[in-house]
Amino acid sequence: MDFYKSTVIYGLLVLSALFLSCSNKENKTDTIETRVNQLLDRMTLDEKIGQMTQIDPGFAGGEEQMKKSVRDGRYGSMLNLFGVEKVNELQKISVEESRLGIPLLIGRDVIHGYQTIFPIPLGMAASWNPEIVKKAFRISAIECSSQGIKWTFAPMVDITWDPRWGRIAEGCGEDPFLASSLSRAMVEGIQGESLTDPSAVAACAKHFVGYGFSEGGRDYSTTYISEPVLRNVVLKPFLAARDAGALTFMSGFNDLNGVPASGNEFTLKQILRKEWDFKGMVVSDWASVSEMISHGYCSNEKEAALKALKAGVDMEMSSLTYAGNIKALLQEGRIEQWVIDDAVRNILRVKYKLGLFENPYVSPEAQKQLLNPEFLDHAQKVARQSAVLLKNDQKTLPLSQKIRSVAVFGPLADSPRDQLGTWVFDGKAENSVTPLAAIRELLGPDKVNFIKGLQYSRDKNRGEFVKALALAKQSDAILYFGGEEWILSGEGQSRGEINLPGAQEELIAELARSGKPLVVIIMAGRPLAVGKVAGMADALLYGWHGGTMAGPALADLIFGKESPSGKLPVTFVKGSGQIPFYYYHNQTGRPASEGSWTPMDSIPVVNPQSSLGYKSFHLDYGFTPLYPFGYGLSYTTFKYSGLKLSSMSMSTTGSIVVSANITNTGEMDGDEIVQFYIRDRVGSITRPVKELKGFQRVSIPQGMQKEIQFTLNAKDLSFFNGKTQVVEPGEFDVWIGPNSAEGLHGEFNMH
Ligand code: NOJ
Repeated sequence: MDFYKSTVIYGLLVLSALFLSCSNKENKTDTIETRVNQLLDRMTLDEKIGQMTQIDPGFAGGEEQMKKSVRDGRYGSMLNLFGVEKVNELQKISVEESRLGIPLLIGRDVIHGYQTIFPIPLGMAASWNPEIVKKAFRISAIECSSQGIKWTFAPMVDITWDPRWGRIAEGCGEDPFLASSLSRAMVEGIQGESLTDPSAVAACAKHFVGYGFSEGGRDYSTTYISEPVLRNVVLKPFLAARDAGALTFMSGFNDLNGVPASGNEFTLKQILRKEWDFKGMVVSDWASVSEMISHGYCSNEKEAALKALKAGVDMEMSSLTYAGNIKALLQEGRIEQWVIDDAVRNILRVKYKLGLFENPYVSPEAQKQLLNPEFLDHAQKVARQSAVLLKNDQKTLPLSQKIRSVAVFGPLADSPRDQLGTWVFDGKAENSVTPLAAIRELLGPDKVNFIKGLQYSRDKNRGEFVKALALAKQSDAILYFGGEEWILSGEGQSRGEINLPGAQEELIAELARSGKPLVVIIMAGRPLAVGKVAGMADALLYGWHGGTMAGPALADLIFGKESPSGKLPVTFVKGSGQIPFYYYHNQTGRPASEGSWTPMDSIPVVNPQSSLGYKSFHLDYGFTPLYPFGYGLSYTTFKYSGLKLSSMSMSTTGSIVVSANITNTGEMDGDEIVQFYIRDRVGSITRPVKELKGFQRVSIPQGMQKEIQFTLNAKDLSFFNGKTQVVEPGEFDVWIGPNSAEGLHGEFNMH
């Protein structure tokens, strides 16, 4: 072919490629599909199995063996590979030395920040602010992609009703509506505007599905979830992640109703692939395929591989049952070739979508994208909006910056690693600004008296108590920073009792004896049973594990730079015995109400068989939680008035608008999180007492009023009865209020 002809042909090819890429999204996808299929056609079975295998370098048989395996195309993905140089080195081997040059997909747990650490996800959920959460995840993606990480195992969107479960820290709490809004925001933040942007990272919605229902809050324990709860609650945030375009899902460790999640055809195949038409990739959790043997669901690795493959797990994390058994399974005719090909297609598609074939390497230049001042400012903002004010008697808070002296105590006051929380591999304690440092900076060191009182959260040594009380007496106000060390929540870190560990309650009681205003700030990975503390403190602020900038954020709130505005994403219980307690439990036959329950201490000692109310309550706890879902105070006050419905009636395809006026009646500007709940009074199955259907975080200047509207579509009132989604006409209640236990009430019917 002469030069002229080949130039014309090349030109035509370029033009048609341009036409394809510009015409529409579908054509773009087609191009990827074509490339995936062309590559698949060239792959050997070993190379296909390689793509389906993900390994941690620590388990790859040593440095040289790892490089050889990459060169031989034995791994499709690596997790926990550190540093730009290392990533580029391995990627170079994969791209330039392996037969087909398929790039590796480098994954890591970047759960709530990479080096700029944001509050734990449960804390971020308390901001009820999808916008700032999205930006937090965008920043995490910018930071981690600059280090070569193109896949994060986030968002974790397991709904849980159990604060004993250590992994409650990683999720968005108990409510499917709030968790779905945040799930969407997190996926959008991680993946960014364009997947081929160098800062785009593939999201992974996990753990599919049901892991948050681990019995007794014991991690990895069995889960039983009825189909209505599964579909109306647990699956919702996953569906939101799919809708937001999450490229990958992770199958969980748990067995769900008797079938392990990583071999579960009902959830992975029927729901995820068929009903939801998910086209992305499914990765197992760490060794969750081989653990099906420990579950007693498979007798050996070959069977485990077979069950995971049949369920639709495309890539196996860490265990090597695929690598060791797929060939034999094919030869024995127990699995068909198309199952393998589909899995490999799902994996390659992610790599193409992320543009890894075009840009496999990380630019060392990009390393500058860590801990930028703008990122740190955002971390401070998120931590500020995440903190929840639970009590503030006599307007103890905010403290004046002109205060003469404050006494700072507690094991979390100056504990840089603990404030970062769980699931932090890359955030560094030395970058944390602690509350003590921030308060010293704000007030000047001379005004701040400090002793820890207890060295760490579980410390029971009362040696410093006398000194602490003396110091408290010399100061104008007391700030006690307590809670939990980071290691007490997270994976495998569940607790049976969820009170403040160690001698913290005793120390707080001691400090209360000083008679000085006592402010307790809790920094923890879960909603602790803080009833006793609330009884002793004048003010109680819940800061969660607030991340790198937790200190300045808390100082901003304590000294009134801004009012606290977070609200609880989870019900706070009085004690472990109340668990599970979530606000949207079904209507019962014998609901308790004020006056209908008998406190245990009021029961006469000698008692004939008689009624103690015969209602749904505990004799010791009663029937209300310590703090309800959605609860949170502010330094200002908000008055709710004028509830209006656009109509008293709507059709099963219609909608109504419900609105109310919110007035800032206090003495400072503030944000209020306005919540919208409904109750479906009668259903074909029993229905929740309340369900969140909308929320808005609004800034209302002092003295101003805003009208807040919520549109309710008939489909928002639908629910799953079994696997059928139904919209049932009938009577409904609505509330617009500041939390799940209060609000202006209205009603309407659907016909
Ligand atoms: C196990 C955890 O359950 C999962 O959430 C995490 O992503 C993987 N390990 C990888 O570290």
